[in-house]
Amino acid sequence: MKPVTVATIAEMKRAEEKIACLTAYDFCFAALLDRTGVDLVMVGDSLGMVMQGHASTLPVSVAHMVYHSSCVARGITRALLVADLPFMSYQQSAEQALANAGRMMQKGGAHVVKLEGGEVMAPTVRFLVDRGIPVCGHIGLTPQSVHQLGGYRVQGRGDDAAQRLTTDARALQDAGASLLVLEAIPSTLAGDITRALKIPTIGIGAGVDCDGQVLVLQDMLGVYPHASPKFAKNFMSGQASVEDAVRAYIAAVKAQRFPGPEHSYT
Ligand code: KIV
Repeated sequence: MKPVTVATIAEMKRAEEKIACLTAYDFCFAALLDRTGVDLVMVGDSLGMVMQGHASTLPVSVAHMVYHSSCVARGITRALLVADLPFMSYQQSAEQALANAGRMMQKGGAHVVKLEGGEVMAPTVRFLVDRGIPVCGHIGLTPQSVHQLGGYRVQGRGDDAAQRLTTDARALQDAGASLLVLEAIPSTLAGDITRALKIPTIGIGAGVDCDGQVLVLQDMLGVYPHASPKFAKNFMSGQASVEDAVRAYIAAVKAQRFPGPEHSYT
């Protein structure tokens, strides 16, 4: 099967084919997602919460990310592998970001690195892209800033906040980002940003109009022991196997049956 690349997902946006994405942190689940047809596998720093049991993503290190990304990379033959740069591994300088992004690609097998932040990160994105590193942006609810945001709250409500996020999205695109995660923002704003951009948007709690959707694997399997966010749906219920649940998720994303209004914000 032909590997998914950043060019593939750009073409999917043009063709209006929805992009199905899930997180994974190990070899077996990565292989399962890959063979069921997930387009994009994210090794998120959410591993700090769902693999390590922390209350936030802040304790995750580059070494943790490299380890889990390399496990996932060995399970993948088709999907695009996007891996997070964790907290304080890229904010200090563009050179720091380049060194850690290089590790994520060379040792972690990542195809694309993801970093959080809007316009302020645009020069760093440009620095990475000019040196051959594909970048995924992440705006809206950025979990690495949970203490600054005052909790895991919806972002982009109100005209000023919506304008801020729209400016951030354009700045990341102009800096060369290949795709953009929109997390926990009103659906209408996510739809407007998606239509304004040439690069694909991947929503998580951002409504059905994004070009693709992502969920944390443990949320969509209903195995996270603490409360899951409103935007998460347990696809395991009514399914006989994990593989069936993943197939149901992919089908729901492709047919725009997920997320519904009950998983979205106004
Ligand atoms: O950390 C993560 O898993 C993520 C995705 C869910 C977008 O950032």
